[in-house]
Amino acid sequence: MDRIFSGIQPTGNLHLGNYLGAIRNWVRLQDSYECIYCVVDLHAITMWQNPLELRTSTREVTAAFIASGIDPKKNIIFNQSRNSDHAQLAWVFNCVARLRWLNRMTQFKEKAGKHRENASIGLYDYPVLMAADILAYKATHVPVGADQRQHLELARDIGQKFNNDFGVELFPMPEPIIFGVASRVMSLRNGLQKMSKSDPSDYSRINLKDGREDIALKIRKAKTDSEPLPSEVKGLEGRPEAENLVGIYAALADLQLEDVLAEVGGLPFSQFKQKLTELAVEELGPIGSEMQRLLAQPDEIDKVIRDGGVRAQTLTAPVLAEVFEVMGLVKD
Ligand code: TYM
Repeated sequence: MDRIFSGIQPTGNLHLGNYLGAIRNWVRLQDSYECIYCVVDLHAITMWQNPLELRTSTREVTAAFIASGIDPKKNIIFNQSRNSDHAQLAWVFNCVARLRWLNRMTQFKEKAGKHRENASIGLYDYPVLMAADILAYKATHVPVGADQRQHLELARDIGQKFNNDFGVELFPMPEPIIFGVASRVMSLRNGLQKMSKSDPSDYSRINLKDGREDIALKIRKAKTDSEPLPSEVKGLEGRPEAENLVGIYAALADLQLEDVLAEVGGLPFSQFKQKLTELAVEELGPIGSEMQRLLAQPDEIDKVIRDGGVRAQTLTAPVLAEVFEVMGLVKD
């Protein structure tokens, strides 16, 4: 059966980009696939994390999964550090992946910035752990936002090289699932920059926990240009802020860009923003309040990820055993 694996880091605030680019699609996929959704805490610590905040964020991300409609009984929801097979397989893959491959990773370059020599080795190695996450389950499909495409290609390269090196067909080649219009939601302050948890300005993003007032204020303050909205998709060219807001609207309303523009073309931004606010509040409001309700019972959340961790390990244990056997590591 086709199997899905995907993950989100428990760092900072979950935002509309994470929701439209990832979580919402995960909810939709749960009926057709066996799904494993992971709070990737070992990825989070590739940058220093305040331990208290890491704990809180781990619960928040779990709550967001459940509040968005992912069923923790039908699927597996857990935090990565609970299943040590991820880290073990990552070590094996460290010995398979080539420096040349990792040196190409644009996310490392962006995150490490000018101080590359000071970045943690974990940050550099991040995509190798990600490959282990996916391949430890022999996952066949990985729903992600567009920014993860390169990491997915690396996971395929690593799996393929392992198979070649040992003359086996152990790992399948995982396929990315990247959904169109909101696969790259941009900052509300700058249409050329990705909406991100680490942007210092909270006005750059809509957080899943934001209430109506915050959502309305952030959309009102969102950067735009001075022209009214175009009636055709071509008219969005060279207007990144307009394109982003229309894209968000289309994703929230489940419409194509053309259909949205047919409806709102010619409107001034002030009116369009009101419509967008209504739509965003309608979709995110119930998720935010359900998250708050769940977070008031942290024991229940912990139970979900504890149970999920046990079930996750029953899936990876035989895969790891196969890997060790193939490599000649004596474990029995
Ligand atoms: P993270 O936590 O940075 O992002 C989680 C998911 O949200 C998507 N995303 C976006 N989508 C659209 N627009 C945006 N502005 C935006 N920002 C983030 C990301 O593409 C991602 O799907 N490396 C992964 C976590 C990970 C993982 C894995 C994913 C670890 N192991 C294995 C899949 C499979 C990440 O960047 O998470």
